[in-house]
Amino acid sequence: MITLNASEKFGKGLHRECFVHPDNDNLCIKVVTYGNQQETKREQGYYKQLQKRNVAWDLLPKFHGNVETSMGQGAIFDLIRDPDGQISKTLEYYLDDKDFVLTHRQQLESALAELRQYLLKYNIMSMAMKPKNILYQLSKSGQGKLFIIDNIGNSDFIPICNYVPFLANKKIVRRWNRFIFKLAL
Ligand SMILES: Nc1ncnc2c1ncn2[C@@H]1O[C@H](COP(=O)(O)OP(=O)(O)OP(=O)(O)O)[C@@H](O)[C@H]1O
Ligand SMILES: [Mg+2]
Repeated sequence: MITLNASEKFGKGLHRECFVHPDNDNLCIKVVTYGNQQETKREQGYYKQLQKRNVAWDLLPKFHGNVETSMGQGAIFDLIRDPDGQISKTLEYYLDDKDFVLTHRQQLESALAELRQYLLKYNIMSMAMKPKNILYQLSKSGQGKLFIIDNIGNSDFIPICNYVPFLANKKIVRRWNRFIFKLAL
């Protein structure tokens, strides 16, 4: 049983709160604070499929299982940090900064292209891609990396795409195009 303290809390979405793992600075623990465990179950089911397929965890935080915490069940993931040790911020955060976008357009575009390639290579689906659910990990000299932290998987009633890579690829491209269109970089 792990005791989570307010001081370790660093992130909050509509459903979950994120804490730095008290015993490991490179892991985070996510606990559900609004709603039930349905979405957690679905997400972990999809992670299981990815583990079976042996995907590389290059741009997706690796899942390390569940633990009992003082706030209920917690899910352990890689914690994404920038080279200076700061916890990486979301793409939404950077897009809100017009100066940053102006001066880093090329890096952002390359990082986006890399994420697209990664998703297609490993056939990783996202239900809806949103800048708040993508982290932009800065890099000292290069383009940085974009990590998907939420909403991966397939919400179709009959998820045939999960078994037909060709259909999954087409869907990934469709979702990706929608995402890029909305970004309007
Ligand atoms: N692996 C991670 N590494 C670093 N920061 C993270 C990580 N996962 C989540 N965060 C931070 O915590 C915040 C909330 O996490 P997450 O998106 O998983 O919560 P959620 O409640 O499921 O979100 P939503 O509001 O989209 O439903 C993120 O916006 C991000 O800032
Ligand atoms: Mg989120």
